[in-house]
Amino acid sequence: RYEKIWLTVGVLTLIAFIITLGVNAFAMGAQPPSNTQVMDPTKVSQTPPFDQPALKQIGQNNYVANMTAFVFSYAPNRMEVPVGSTVTFNVTSKDVVHGFEIPGTNVNMMIIPGLVNSATHTFTKPGDYLILCNEYCGTGHQLMAAHLIVK
Ligand code: CUA
Repeated sequence: RYEKIWLTVGVLTLIAFIITLGVNAFAMGAQPPSNTQVMDPTKVSQTPPFDQPALKQIGQNNYVANMTAFVFSYAPNRMEVPVGSTVTFNVTSKDVVHGFEIPGTNVNMMIIPGLVNSATHTFTKPGDYLILCNEYCGTGHQLMAAHLIVK
């Protein structure tokens, strides 16, 4: 008789375990990782903050650049910050996969349509920092660039 009880408990535990796994898998599939945001790429231009791509000051030495990538440019494509500024780049694509690299920094992202990727860097040296596309995206790929002026 005891065997039957333990067998039942064992089977119920196994069922509960499988249900938990299933629920977790479903929850993880339904939610993107916390640092990303998914939207319809064709609606990027209507979705704040990407409807008005811009550099914004959020603290004394703190900036956020909400940017869009599209063939064959970035918006905004020229920004200026004081030396010592920390800039967080939130970037999404309106069309195809692009790159977002700032040579000489740790910023190097793949920009996927409708997905927001972020990178943060503190610019301690003045200069004209080139932001360039390092994913082949079409005939104008080589021309795709933006500038961050640090002075
Ligand atoms: Cu965009 Cu290459």
